[in-house]
Amino acid sequence: MSIKFSPLTEVQLKALQQLTTGIQQEQITWLNGYFQGLAGSVAVGSTTEVRPEEQPAEAAGALPLTILYGTHTGRSEALAKALSQKAAERNIKSVIKPMDDYKTKQLKDEKNLLVIVSTHGEGEPPEMAEDFYFFLTGKRVPKLDGLNYSVLALGDKSYKLFCQTGVDMNQALSKAGAKPLLPILKCDVDYEDDAEKWGEAVLAELAKQQPNASSAPVQTAAKSEVASYSKKNPFAATVLDKVQITGRDSDKEVYHLELSLEGSGITYEPGDALGVIAQNPPQLVDDIIATLGVIDQEVVETRIGKLPFNEALKHHYEVTLLTRDVIEKYAEKTGIEAVKAILEDDKKLDDYLYGHDVLDLLHEFPFKLTATEFLELLRPLPPRLYSISSSQEAVEDEVHITVSRVRYENKGRKRYGACSTFLADRLQIDDEVLIYIDKNPNFRLPQNGTPIIMVGAGTGIAPYRAFLQQRESAELKGKSWLFFGERHFASDFLYQLEWQKYLQKGFLEKIDLAFSRDQKEKVYVQHKLLEQQKELFEWINNGAIFYLCGDMKYMARDVQAALLEIIQTQGGMTEEQAKAYFKKLKKEKRFMADVY
Ligand SMILES: Cc1cc2nc3c(=O)[nH]c(=O)nc-3n(C[C@H](O)[C@H](O)[C@H](O)COP(=O)(O)OP(=O)(O)OC[C@H]3O[C@@H](n4cnc5c(N)ncnc54)[C@H](O)[C@@H]3O)c2cc1C
Ligand SMILES: Cc1cc2nc3c(=O)[nH]c(=O)nc-3n(C[C@H](O)[C@H](O)[C@H](O)COP(=O)(O)O)c2cc1C
Repeated sequence: MSIKFSPLTEVQLKALQQLTTGIQQEQITWLNGYFQGLAGSVAVGSTTEVRPEEQPAEAAGALPLTILYGTHTGRSEALAKALSQKAAERNIKSVIKPMDDYKTKQLKDEKNLLVIVSTHGEGEPPEMAEDFYFFLTGKRVPKLDGLNYSVLALGDKSYKLFCQTGVDMNQALSKAGAKPLLPILKCDVDYEDDAEKWGEAVLAELAKQQPNASSAPVQTAAKSEVASYSKKNPFAATVLDKVQITGRDSDKEVYHLELSLEGSGITYEPGDALGVIAQNPPQLVDDIIATLGVIDQEVVETRIGKLPFNEALKHHYEVTLLTRDVIEKYAEKTGIEAVKAILEDDKKLDDYLYGHDVLDLLHEFPFKLTATEFLELLRPLPPRLYSISSSQEAVEDEVHITVSRVRYENKGRKRYGACSTFLADRLQIDDEVLIYIDKNPNFRLPQNGTPIIMVGAGTGIAPYRAFLQQRESAELKGKSWLFFGERHFASDFLYQLEWQKYLQKGFLEKIDLAFSRDQKEKVYVQHKLLEQQKELFEWINNGAIFYLCGDMKYMARDVQAALLEIIQTQGGMTEEQAKAYFKKLKKEKRFMADVY
């Protein structure tokens, strides 16, 4: 970047030159985080993003409104910003804050608070929302009887603790005496329309308090006609290539897919995911229709209008897995006691949810349903996300993904994951697939050559391929260290030749491999981290960024535990100090996780 064309004044430029003369890598990393933090506090569009202590005195009659968001993958943030924009269209000025930048002592002075928050992990708050969450649900929360509030909770019904963070925050606000403007809205994966309606309704409520606010949005300039592809308006990408990258002897099937984005204008960054509009396995659709005994072409009313039943099942409803919600609706509709019993026991429910699909319900607890009644039980088929394994700097009009094919057998029936088998089996080269980019601002590669430690198992390696492609394109040979884990060296070393090439060229400095089943003792990535702990801690302590990608249930937990142990041992810290150090890493975005 040329300093010559910077927007800085001469005095600022001089100060910058003084500051950066002889600067150390660690200091650059710190400054990078500092300036990112500053950038996060700058006004965006009509959004006023200011620190609470710097808030201007309220304009006469103006409604004080704070919008707080807690996010991991950025959806709550985008909704908060859109809501703030909508508020501005009604003459309502809002202050919008990420939860990790909110001073909790401000809470007692708030008058109107809108909370938009997702749930992650297994019913946990997103990392950046943790402090606010624990404050709000803890003993120190003040009396909030002067506060009006509403909570928009994002979640996914396929997780057991659906929208738990939003639910807990809603309960805590109510317990502290705050008054709900509207009841909490819990949103599943198809949250967009409901979230928009909630926003309109909550702003209409708020408008009643402010004399000059309009009860409906003021007409603004017509929206741009430029096509922008999104979940609601996906792009039809052509399959350019598809290859299986696990060996014949592997017990896994992982595919590398290359898709064309030509003509779409779509851009993405390493760390983003590709949203794929899934299609259900045709055999399962046929079996469901046969079991229900309905006509496959029967035209039924769906959320998106009238459709033939088989078409609706194939494209629009989730049938390959079960959620609590579906079982609840089935129990209510059928009144079958055995189905109710599943819901009454958490362990039974967990066991039933894993490895069962909608057809199991119909087989095991038969009940006569019409096609329409059946559809009413189901949730919309959500798109599936795949970490992008390419950099646009390298592949330009293409996007690559790395897909593990989900297949298993239960109760004598073969089962196939909806999207992974659609991509791996049913989609052929030259076919089209509907896609969009799912941005992930919380898994980013720095522009400079800051050292990076990349830890991933299985398809968790995908974003690191994008990272190194990006670094090669930018000719950045900064320190980089890859830890990769899978089952067998011979069959599961994904993209082996590419890592070797990066090692030779110097874009990858170190690689450590954990093939769990190549020896008697199981070896996983966390063991490799512990083996290398001295050097690893030096890297981290000198400013390296630690990335973690892949399995959420086991690997993420074990890697984080190993990392804490390393910080404690190598840093000579107590457990508490190590936890604080780790927390600081997360806050400075020097520990970033993309797990699923
Ligand atoms: C941010 C993000 C990034 C991701 N990146 C990738 C990626 O890069 N590559 C990748 O392959 N995936 C990735 N995933 C996962 C991906 O989105 C899908 O969840 C995955 O492909 C499965 O979807 P599916 O439609 O094929 O299976 P589904 O139809 O969703 O079926 C999955 C269900 O099958 C059941 N099941 C699966 N295996 C078994 C078993 N052995 N025994 C019993 N039951 C079983 C479980 O109930 C499971 O919930 C990512 C997910 C997220 C959220
Ligand atoms: C790894 C992972 C874990 C999740 N855990 C839960 C959960 O326990 N409960 C839930 O309701 N949703 C869960 N979700 C779904 C998210 O809340 C949902 O995708 C939400 O739209 C994300 O919003 P955000 O981008 O603002 O973070 C999880 C998603 C991921 C990727």
